[in-house]
Amino acid sequence: MTDFEGLKALVTGGASGIGRATAELLAERGAQVAVLDLDPSSVEKPLLGFRADVTDDASVRTAVESAVEALGGLDVLVNNAGIGAQGTVEDNDDDEWHRVYDVNVLGMVRATRAALPHLRRSEHAAIVNTCSIAATAGLPQRALYSATKGAVYSLTLAMAADHVREGVRVNCVNPGTVDTPWIGRLLGKAADPVAERAALEARQPTGRLVSAPEVALAIAYLASPLSGATTGTSLAVDGGTQGLRLRPVGQ
Ligand SMILES: NC(=O)c1ccc[n+]([C@@H]2O[C@H](COP(=O)([O-])OP(=O)(O)OC[C@H]3O[C@@H](n4cnc5c(N)ncnc54)[C@H](O)[C@@H]3O)[C@@H](O)[C@H]2O)c1
Repeated sequence: MTDFEGLKALVTGGASGIGRATAELLAERGAQVAVLDLDPSSVEKPLLGFRADVTDDASVRTAVESAVEALGGLDVLVNNAGIGAQGTVEDNDDDEWHRVYDVNVLGMVRATRAALPHLRRSEHAAIVNTCSIAATAGLPQRALYSATKGAVYSLTLAMAADHVREGVRVNCVNPGTVDTPWIGRLLGKAADPVAERAALEARQPTGRLVSAPEVALAIAYLASPLSGATTGTSLAVDGGTQGLRLRPVGQ
């Protein structure tokens, strides 16, 4: 499928995991793709890598302008850069709350602000935000992270309303637990990584983790010009975790 032929896309956090899989898929489907990341050193052609920290407005603006110049325009922004946080509401101090909000929420605000003037000039403008099942389900030990993703969900709806008449569609994907380097780091910190992985797999009705290419396909669907009627939605890619209520095995 070459639905992205001639289109230009920018993926934040595109050097790893979901962002990397998305950048590669969009390129396979015909887009010219730039990646914005803290560390773009692993990014290879045909992808273009740009270094930026989404917590730093000047660095985001500079990277977005450089990417748009190199690409010759911008049609698709994938706001994907994000970081994790563990614990209950008691477990993180104010500085940590500000730090995680700064990346996960304001990071999307900064990239979108820088991209919008260019997206308005596109015939097929789309923004896709990487949200999470944590926005819509109560997960234990994820108070701060979930709050940031709840904000991303609301921001997606508000942005969709603000920009629909400018021809800019805005949607989000809500992944369950995805097998990326992120989860590798999380398991690395667990007392029993094998048991922790089994618990994460068991939480998903499909009995396995989601893959990064599966999330990339959902992002590409929402970003594609073929989805011109879809805006202000969230698309779950969570192995059924949000919607299904299974009985325990054997009952
Ligand atoms: N892995 C999961 O289970 C899962 C589930 C739901 C949602 N998500 C979301 O998916 C997104 C990507 O996660 P992933 O699992 O691919 O993680 P990952 O750690 O593999 O990749 C994240 C990328 O973002 C970049 N990044 C982090 N902070 C940045 C900053 N300040 N500026 C620029 N780039 C920065 C990192 O360098 C990295 O390349 C995140 O928004 C995350 O919240 C992940």
